[in-house]
Amino acid sequence: MTQSYETILVERRGRVAVITINRPEKRNALNIRTRTEAATILNELSTDDSVSVVVITGAGDKAFIAGADIAEFADRTAITQREVMLERSLFNAIDRFPKPIIAMVNGYCLGGGCEVALACDIRITSERASFGQPEINLGIIPGGGGSQRLTRLVGEGKAMEMILTGEIIDAPTAFVIGLVNHVVPANQLETKTMEIANRIAEKSPIALRLAKEAVKVASRSNLDEGLRREVDLFALCFSSEDKDEGVKAFLEKRKPEFKGK
Ligand code: COA
Repeated sequence: MTQSYETILVERRGRVAVITINRPEKRNALNIRTRTEAATILNELSTDDSVSVVVITGAGDKAFIAGADIAEFADRTAITQREVMLERSLFNAIDRFPKPIIAMVNGYCLGGGCEVALACDIRITSERASFGQPEINLGIIPGGGGSQRLTRLVGEGKAMEMILTGEIIDAPTAFVIGLVNHVVPANQLETKTMEIANRIAEKSPIALRLAKEAVKVASRSNLDEGLRREVDLFALCFSSEDKDEGVKAFLEKRKPEFKGK
């Protein structure tokens, strides 16, 4: 089933929902409508029990997302820009999304596009893709979390170089610095992504949610607090029927059937 919005397509493939940013003629640049639609869709999918995993990608074979729609910058004031970033933030919507979310990067992944990928949990990329934070070339800096999430993911030296030079790096380089999880030939991108998405979608939705929360705590707290949160989240799993089913299935040497309860 494919649902259509003005700038986005949403397709259900079993328990995986694929969100496609659909402005290929503008290299899938994020305008206000795209951001608002994507945030609305994520909000709906967050409470849809038939969906366990979300994949985000870009339409066409050129771009994942070529960044914020630069044309919208022209007339924007500091006040309106702040409102867009704080109140209609797609990056926050992705960051707070409670289910696993995978970026399937099929081409240019620049500026806000790279920040969308960085806000996702896993990044899988075609060998034709390229990555960068070129905002510095426009006289601005990353504003969708790039300076923070890129730094946490690849370290200060690499992040600093990308953000200060605006240099675009290729997919193999992105892999070497730890920016992406997998690089595959373009014709295998979808297969590889769906393979990983489906593997995750088989797990207990409750355990996925708690596992994601636990991992996210790691970069947002100190070790003692993180370890404490992990114990609480681990213990919380013991209140689920899925934990009973997982343990029982192991002991009975069969595949578990998780129900998300
Ligand atoms: N915002 C608005 N429009 C964009 C855009 C963006 N971020 N990226 C691409 N486009 C538009 C172009 O203006 C062009 O529109 P037009 O056909 O009406 O002139 C169309 O998309 C195709 O772009 P084009 O540059 O011709 O395609 P390309 O394949 O040769 O190059 C890019 C693609 C992504 C390398 C190049 O468009 C680019 O550098 N984009 C800006 C990237 C950027 O700085 N992002 C950070 C923004 S903060």
